[in-house]
Amino acid sequence: MNRFTLGIALTSAVLLGGTALTHAANLVLYCAADEAWCQQIKTTFEAETGITVDMTRKSSGETYAQVRAEASNPKGDVWWGGTGDPHLQAAEEGLTEEYVSPMRGELHPWAISQAEAAGNRTIGVYSGALGFGYNKELLAKNNMPEPKCWADLIKPEYKGQVQMANPNSSGTAYTMLATIVQLMGEDAGFDYMKALHKNINQYTKSGSAPIKAAGLGETTIGIVFMHDAVAQTAAGFPVVTVAPCEGTGYEIGSMSLIKGARNPEEAKKFYDWALTAAMQSRAQEVKSFQLPSNKSATGSPLSPDLSTIKLIEYDFKKYGSSDERKRLLQKWDTEVSTLPQ
Ligand code: G6P
Repeated sequence: MNRFTLGIALTSAVLLGGTALTHAANLVLYCAADEAWCQQIKTTFEAETGITVDMTRKSSGETYAQVRAEASNPKGDVWWGGTGDPHLQAAEEGLTEEYVSPMRGELHPWAISQAEAAGNRTIGVYSGALGFGYNKELLAKNNMPEPKCWADLIKPEYKGQVQMANPNSSGTAYTMLATIVQLMGEDAGFDYMKALHKNINQYTKSGSAPIKAAGLGETTIGIVFMHDAVAQTAAGFPVVTVAPCEGTGYEIGSMSLIKGARNPEEAKKFYDWALTAAMQSRAQEVKSFQLPSNKSATGSPLSPDLSTIKLIEYDFKKYGSSDERKRLLQKWDTEVSTLPQ
């Protein structure tokens, strides 16, 4: 290679390097809903805007921990989905940005209240009630009665038959812990969690894993959001969804802009897009049956109808506060998860 061709080769390498850099991801998305939905969101946003998305799926509590750990050098731009409590905690701790989207007028009041409770640092993108599901074939095979209430799940006949996620990593499981405390009071609620611990075969990392396991016959019962149980039935698995007889809590799946994001313009573009009716109406194509926050979005007829479910007045302000979430998780760690089974 003479000097001239070497010069050309070097210049091209620099140019290519430069091109590679400009083509690097220009939106970093932390996605905390189901993998299939996260993938759909990434590919649709890329196709509609030409903005490349680097997406990572993690559970709600894990995403919160990551955003917190990266606070002095943020790597993510938008945190989309997952239960609202860790988004509220992040807002209180100043880890996320204030933003009022021009789309706000199109949303249900519950989605806007979530924003108002957090000084506009988060907003509701979907909602869904907590419950559980079971594999009806396994239940019949083992001659077990149908569980209908939270109180049923601690009965000795279900020993080793119930699965739920770990509330530290999973927003679903934290919603369950906070729901039980709100339904029964803290002392009775923790007694319940200790009794339930005896029946638990595994605490998974992700919230929907237990009902996927039930679908496959690896556990009989999974404590999950009801829409996640419905998704398994829709996928052809012998799963029955239960709205617990005592009443239950619910989530306001949320979205936040990460403070100090490297791509703030793209992040806002994504945020506004994620609140559109068109984007939210597509969720059902990947069997995500939450209720959309945009009033004009088309939900699925398979979505559990919240008006027929006994819902508690879930205190998002309290259970999404930094002190309370930390305290409850610590208490669960020391008083429940360490108990022998
Ligand atoms: C599932 C549900 C979502 C929920 C999410 C929380 O994906 O469909 O509605 O927000 O779980 O995930 P996590 O793993 O944090 O429990």
